[in-house]
Amino acid sequence: MTSSAPLKINGTTEIAGVVGRPIAHSLSPRLHNAWIRALGLNAVYLPFSPTETGFQRLVQGFRGGVIRGLNVTLPFKAEALALADTADTAAQEAGAANLLLFLSDGAIEARNTDGLGLLYAFAQQAPTWRPDQGPITILGAGGAARGALATLKRAGARDIRILNRTRARAESLCRALGGTAFDLTEAGRALDGATTLINATSGQLQAEFADKDTLPLPAQAPPGAVAMDMVYAPLNTPFLQAAAAAGFATVDGLDMLIGQARPSFAALFGQPPPELDARSLCLAPEDGS
Ligand code: ATR
Repeated sequence: MTSSAPLKINGTTEIAGVVGRPIAHSLSPRLHNAWIRALGLNAVYLPFSPTETGFQRLVQGFRGGVIRGLNVTLPFKAEALALADTADTAAQEAGAANLLLFLSDGAIEARNTDGLGLLYAFAQQAPTWRPDQGPITILGAGGAARGALATLKRAGARDIRILNRTRARAESLCRALGGTAFDLTEAGRALDGATTLINATSGQLQAEFADKDTLPLPAQAPPGAVAMDMVYAPLNTPFLQAAAAAGFATVDGLDMLIGQARPSFAALFGQPPPELDARSLCLAPEDGS
């Protein structure tokens, strides 16, 4: 099975895509179009980047099944949920959608497959990890942290701690979904005995935390402990480097991207993606094809 066959584009080509701002960095078109080509589908997956205020117009314009659907990335995930007519449990709990399906009757269905992506990443890179193996500490209290908290609770995690710079945000998240809130002055308690750490702070933070000494991490990982970073560029983030040095097994963010794309593709095109080496596809240099 090859991904190098040309896309078929004609009058019956099905369209799907990803919408975000910025979007040029997105690996989703590369991944979905490789899967489309390998399956020989008459379909194409395109990037869309409306202005900050143009997301609603773009989505409303696609009502009625003009296109199959859209993956949604920052900063539009919460707005995507608000615009939809129905939403699955994952999207409702996360307060955000990463997938909009445009039905032929004009309705828009919101879904969230990011949680499946998170669990897929652990399954791929730390296969013995279990959500209930011990305390989980999530760094951050924004949209990404909310999605992770909801997913892990549903997967059976019992002790989840939210560690965030701004205590009020951590508290409001824990009030909504459960968990215990901590701010950075309480990092020691938040991390005590944690066997899972997840960095769900925003990507910008990675650069600011290039000085590994400033990262809230225990000096020594408990047995079986795993650290995961949702960011995949760079793949081996300062957070993961510091966690590995403390003895944590590590899970990078690339499999989370792939793990959310797989069920998205199935929902968009009615069949699962083919078994290609998705990590190599994502990591290959841009060839302009
Ligand atoms: P996302 O939707 O990607 O989660 P977000 O809602 O903006 O993005 O949340 C970003 C998270 O990164 C927040 O937890 C934020 O902490 P605050 O709630 O205190 O703002 C965290 N974050 C961003 N920059 C940070 C920094 N310089 N130091 C510590 N935390 C930071």
